[in-house]
Amino acid sequence: MTRKKIVAGNWKMNLVADEAIALVNAISQLQQTNSAVELMFFPPALYIQSLKHTTLKVGAQNFHPAEKGAFTGELSINQLKDVGASIVLIGHSERRELFFESNSFLKEKVDAAIAHNMPIIFCCGEPLSIRDAGNALEFVTQQLTESLFHLSPAQLVNVTIAYEPIWAIGTGKTATVEEAEAMHKGIRNAIQAHYQSSETAASISILYGGSCNPSNAAELFACPNVDGGLIGGAALDATSFIAIANAF
Ligand code: 13P
Repeated sequence: MTRKKIVAGNWKMNLVADEAIALVNAISQLQQTNSAVELMFFPPALYIQSLKHTTLKVGAQNFHPAEKGAFTGELSINQLKDVGASIVLIGHSERRELFFESNSFLKEKVDAAIAHNMPIIFCCGEPLSIRDAGNALEFVTQQLTESLFHLSPAQLVNVTIAYEPIWAIGTGKTATVEEAEAMHKGIRNAIQAHYQSSETAASISILYGGSCNPSNAAELFACPNVDGGLIGGAALDATSFIAIANAF
């Protein structure tokens, strides 16, 4: 399986219903020049149902790995599927840092998604202190090893990886092209080493996230191991989001 080009918008905890509908309508009206790029967005969960009619794929930013039960405030995969989510984010650094989600808890989420045939965008990325210490790839490889690499090669095809260096998220400070390509290549090498398969490594899409915008998307997407972007702030503006998609 050849890997896909993907541009995904993570709306985080932004927009109310009217704004969300207006944004999706505005995105749909703009012209996507490269139809090979798959567009998707992750709105706040309570708007998934009213936005699922769009041609874009709609996903959920978060879920609980249990089937059901006493988890006040949480949503299960079945519930998200029921309202129209067709992909989930797992391991965003905001979930890791602000809500204390560990690699082992994220592994439970990965297993729950796989059990429900729910495609995954799995986020990884290092804090600045780890990068400054020269340990970024080792740190990211450990995140993948502890949460993802127990999957079989057949299960791993349901996973897209998003590399989001924490120091680049919402800061306006993007990884350089060299930093992004080196990490993406390192992630692909780690997949190859673990699965002993260059075919498996070559089939996984690896997205970049962190202050990606219409001005820097083209050079990032030109990197051989960067297969698209997971976009935060710039995904809240239809023109910017489509400009990023058109940067391929
Ligand atoms: P920004 O694009 O706002 O830096 O956010 C990136 C991100 O966290 C996407 O998940």
